[in-house]
Amino acid sequence: MCGIIAYTGGQQAVPVLMNGLRRLEYRGYDSAGISVSSRKKLRTWKSAGKINVLDSQLPESIKAQCGIGHTRWATHGAPTDENAHPHTDTEESVTVVHNGIIENVDALKDKLTVEYKSETDSEVLAHLLSQTIKEKKCSLIDAMREVLSRVVGTYGIAAISAEEPEKIVLARSGSPVIIGIGEGEMLAASDMSALSRYTREVVHLDDGEVAQITPDGFEVTLLDASPTDKSSMTLVSNIEDYDRGGYEHYLYREIVDQPDTVRRTISGRLDKRFNTARLGGLNMEARDLLQIQRVKILGCGSALYAGMAGANMIESLSRIPCDAEPAAEFRYRNPVIEASTLYIVVSQSGETFDTLAATREIQRKGGFVLGIVNSVGSTIAREVDGGVYMHAGPEVSVASTKAFTSMLSVFSLLAILLGRSRDVSPQRGAQLLLALEQAPDKIADVLALETHIADIAKEYANSHSAFFIGRTSAYPVALEGAQKLKEISYIHAEAYPASELKHGPLALVCAETPCVVVLPESELLDKSMGALEEIKARGAPVIAVTDSSNKRIDKLADHVIRTPLADELVQGMVMGVALQIYAYHSAVALGRDVDQPRNLAKSVTVE
Ligand code: G6P
Repeated sequence: MCGIIAYTGGQQAVPVLMNGLRRLEYRGYDSAGISVSSRKKLRTWKSAGKINVLDSQLPESIKAQCGIGHTRWATHGAPTDENAHPHTDTEESVTVVHNGIIENVDALKDKLTVEYKSETDSEVLAHLLSQTIKEKKCSLIDAMREVLSRVVGTYGIAAISAEEPEKIVLARSGSPVIIGIGEGEMLAASDMSALSRYTREVVHLDDGEVAQITPDGFEVTLLDASPTDKSSMTLVSNIEDYDRGGYEHYLYREIVDQPDTVRRTISGRLDKRFNTARLGGLNMEARDLLQIQRVKILGCGSALYAGMAGANMIESLSRIPCDAEPAAEFRYRNPVIEASTLYIVVSQSGETFDTLAATREIQRKGGFVLGIVNSVGSTIAREVDGGVYMHAGPEVSVASTKAFTSMLSVFSLLAILLGRSRDVSPQRGAQLLLALEQAPDKIADVLALETHIADIAKEYANSHSAFFIGRTSAYPVALEGAQKLKEISYIHAEAYPASELKHGPLALVCAETPCVVVLPESELLDKSMGALEEIKARGAPVIAVTDSSNKRIDKLADHVIRTPLADELVQGMVMGVALQIYAYHSAVALGRDVDQPRNLAKSVTVE
């Protein structure tokens, strides 16, 4: 999705802006641009395509210490030079970058008689700001408040005016804006990744806030100009967290980091004295946990699949009915909200629009929402009633990997906690804690299988289609495996519960469709083996991913990826890593853009 970077201070602005844009690349974009202000003049460069195209158009030396930049993900209007941000008014006295969508753009445009240079909804903001400054003889921040009082829609905005050379005005409603505080310099961005090189001291704007930064400070006000008492917070992530760690792809680094990231997620949360989990941020007492009659989990994409796996864990250990649903479907079906239901929203970024909207809908109706979020200080993290941070560190590659396993780790902790508050014995609690504690080592064992998995992936990389099959707790693992493969290799991949095979998909199973069957050691293993037989009978290549030593699997499958035997609670997390490696090597074999797959964005902040 679109990204914003802004800088004002003692350094030359262009290198800072360009660095920020590169840091935002991972979010997905199709054009980019910057505007700088110096000597009461604004200059803008923008172009469709990658940041290198923009870079090649910049003059050798641009002397300016204040500016804004943007990576655009086309919504209104095609990815062209004209539609790229920043947008300017006719006299080029104001330039604006905007994330989000202005819903009443037509009504706003009707009130102006200017010639528009682009097809975007955002350009109107530049004209409105410039007109307001002229008519009211006011400052940019006053004009921003006045204009935004007429705007309907979502926005994260940064704007500069030729008349106020060191000032950047920011505004937020539904699309993140973070102020970064430096020494003698101030930055702003839509995403921490663009700021991490310069500062860890940040202020997150809330919806309805309009701010102004100068090299010496910041000021945050509400739309009606009343002041706020916002203070800054210090984030713990380091600049290295946003690097590839010497590997060719972020995705690879994020896959191999998982023993550490899972360790971080569970660190300090295993309560061995009472054989339960310790989750301080829940804001729930033991007595509250006993009141829960149902658990509903909401998320999008991989977070949804993690939620489905989490629902299995919670229901099986606590015997509280639990299910997961796509956040957008939930919020649009006018759901019944119950006081006795615990609602859990899951999001790596903490900014996914549909997940945020579902959170607000539940809260509006009086429900209690817990958040499982990775990005510290993100909107969802700030708005939920209680929560658990994943502590997986920044995830840069568009396709989720380490966040997925950290989500499963948090669900394991929650399942233990809820289970121990009900039927799970202290002895079983101790076993579960041990299983979780050993999970990072088991993931490391799976990483050691890379060459074997890569060989299989290469053999089937030219397939047009693949199936992923799993039963009950293995089904979400299969769903996420198929998701990874389709996202980064573009091989069509579908996941089915083993029981559904004969109700449709078998019509397509043939020698050209490799089938990845996830077979955890369990009491259902024999039943799942039936699926292997069915697939084999159609001549399809079978890739079994299993922690079972059952010899029949070796007989029936063409390839066996044998992961270390693990407790049911962590099987999904351990086996899931094998599927990530499979997808990664399929994509590499096909020469795909692993970190930035086509048409996908890391953080989907619009509906
Ligand atoms: C996008 C990303 C997915 C991610 C989903 C939910 O679709 O491409 O990788 O799983 O959003 O993101 P979230 O940040 O809420 O976990």
